[in-house]
Amino acid sequence: MLIRHAPDLTDNDVTDPGVYLQRRTLMAGLAGLGLAGFAGQANAALTYTKGFSTTEKPTPRKDVTTYNNFYEFGVDKGDPAEKSDRFKPRPWTVRIDGACEAPRTVGIEDLIAGNKLEERIYRMRCVEGWSMVIPWVGFPLKDLLASVKPTSKAKYVAFETVRRPSEMPGQGWNTLDWPYVEGLRIDEAMHPLTLMAVGLYGDVLPNQNGAPLRLVVPWKYGFKGGKSIVRITLTEKPPATAWNKLAPREYGFYANVNPAVDHPRWSQATERRLGEFRRRETLPFNGYGEWVADLYRGMDLKRFY
Ligand code: MTE
Repeated sequence: MLIRHAPDLTDNDVTDPGVYLQRRTLMAGLAGLGLAGFAGQANAALTYTKGFSTTEKPTPRKDVTTYNNFYEFGVDKGDPAEKSDRFKPRPWTVRIDGACEAPRTVGIEDLIAGNKLEERIYRMRCVEGWSMVIPWVGFPLKDLLASVKPTSKAKYVAFETVRRPSEMPGQGWNTLDWPYVEGLRIDEAMHPLTLMAVGLYGDVLPNQNGAPLRLVVPWKYGFKGGKSIVRITLTEKPPATAWNKLAPREYGFYANVNPAVDHPRWSQATERRLGEFRRRETLPFNGYGEWVADLYRGMDLKRFY
């Protein structure tokens, strides 16, 4: 992956997180969407889950939505915001199948209406060495997986994202083997921190952030969070993953944030939080070790990177 530096921030870019964090404002944002699902749930179901959300200051919305990795639209950080106008995230369906008793195809509106939406403010650490704090709106992946009744053969979960070269100019290039695919072990997928995001900053997901549905796994490097997902398949064998296929020595299947295991070409000990001048120390499991370290007990994390 290329390493780029964010443009300097001005005072105008900085939104006071207190402003949007007020439940009232969030509700107004959701109700204003005109989406049956989001709006219908706004009063009842959207919760602020303190236990899982960080109290760190969220990265300004402008940075979250203009400094992106989404190679389907190009390799520069500004490409996803600038070149995703033609992308149509609706109508949209997701197929959930594989090792389960009740495979289903579900439309995005039904997914939003049928799940309990929550705001989760998570740190995101990119493998390239930068990080953000993002207020997502979404629901736990485990709820969706439970709805298809996984069988005992379901050991992994494969995520397939959209392939639509007519709307995604970057897919005209062989930067990656399209479509972008990702995967998790079943216990990682069922972990309560693992989120399917449908929004951020109280609004629907912008195209550049993976509309209409993307994965968020906050203790792993950002590339595990596949954007614009069309298929989720329960599998017996570990699924292929996009960056691992391209450069297996640089990008492993696990990709847990780990300051003690460097990328072959750069250190992972520190990170640059967007909007900050000094680099900060990277935390094991991106600071979520208290909840997830047990998943990897006894594993050599240098080998399973
Ligand atoms: N998903 C798809 N489909 N294509 C991509 O290029 N990039 C990944 C991940 N998901 C990517 C993707 C990488 S490298 C990162 S760091 C995050 O998305 C960035 O998410 P953000 O742009 O919303 O911050």
